[in-house]
Amino acid sequence: MKRHHRLAFALALAGVLCGAGAAIAQEADAPPRERWSFSGPFGLYDTAQLQRGFKIYQEVCANCHSLKLLSFRNLAEPGGPDFTEAQAASIAAAFQVRDGPNDAGKMFKRPGKISDLFPPPFANEQAARAALGGKLPPDMSTLAKARSFEAGFPWFILDAFTMYQENGPDYIHAIVTGYTDAPAGFVLPPGGQYNKYFPGHAIGMPKPLSDGQVEYTDGTPTTVDQYGRDVAAFLMWAAEPTLDARKRLGFQVMVFLIVFSALLYFTKKRVWQAVLHDPELEKPRAPTEYKV
Ligand code: HEC
Repeated sequence: MKRHHRLAFALALAGVLCGAGAAIAQEADAPPRERWSFSGPFGLYDTAQLQRGFKIYQEVCANCHSLKLLSFRNLAEPGGPDFTEAQAASIAAAFQVRDGPNDAGKMFKRPGKISDLFPPPFANEQAARAALGGKLPPDMSTLAKARSFEAGFPWFILDAFTMYQENGPDYIHAIVTGYTDAPAGFVLPPGGQYNKYFPGHAIGMPKPLSDGQVEYTDGTPTTVDQYGRDVAAFLMWAAEPTLDARKRLGFQVMVFLIVFSALLYFTKKRVWQAVLHDPELEKPRAPTEYKV
């Protein structure tokens, strides 16, 4: 009887696992892992990559996706793309920012200043949906941290040790490189594109990048794969601009704690030395003999 129970349980478990596996497989493929300069406990951003990624955002993604939590001055802050203030100001000036009201009570547009936030490409959600077949491009300020996926066994165990947290950038890279022809029998809704990695596969975003679309001046290959990696790194920085500072401080704190623990250990040995080596104290005594 017991054996039957166990068998039934094993079969049920296998069924559930296969079912879950199949459901995930239908949902979307797990994005492949990329190498990120900023992964792991010591990983930091690659300034040149962030600058390239910003170029991709500015020339391509900014036509549809807003970045409303970021201001132009952030581009010149340490730990980021490391533009000079003058460069950040000239980037800002290329954007038109809504301001006002002026003395006549009207809102007006003016070139951006370094203190402005990135202006959104559409006036409001309805305008974005109307222009994009009813789909809303999500704001990109925290997209790299807001999106993730189940990496599955054995990754979720390994990741705890390697401190891998780059599922968000992996997902963004996968989405921009994941456009393929729909497999036979897959019915795309009107305005939908097939994407291997988008949950449900039918994505409302037209393929945003193609090889050679954005010019790089530093000799980096101009492929969709490279663009995807660069823009994902830039969006990771946008979502976590203080990552470099956090990791540096974390390292300093760990070094301090190790040194401090060693000091405490030797201090403890020193303080208890006399007590431990006092022959009087080593003799057994009745509890009543202890002085209070
Ligand atoms: C023509 C407008 C347009 C451009 C340009 C564009 N996108 Fe999108 N994007 C969209 C829309 C619309 C959606 C929402 C799709 C949906 O919900 O089906 C979207 C969704 C996404 C998603 C999926 C977000 C999610 O909810 O999981 C990612 C990632 C993304 N875009 C990245 C990019 C990147 C990176 C670029 C620049 C290289 C870019 N997009 C350029 C319109 C655009």
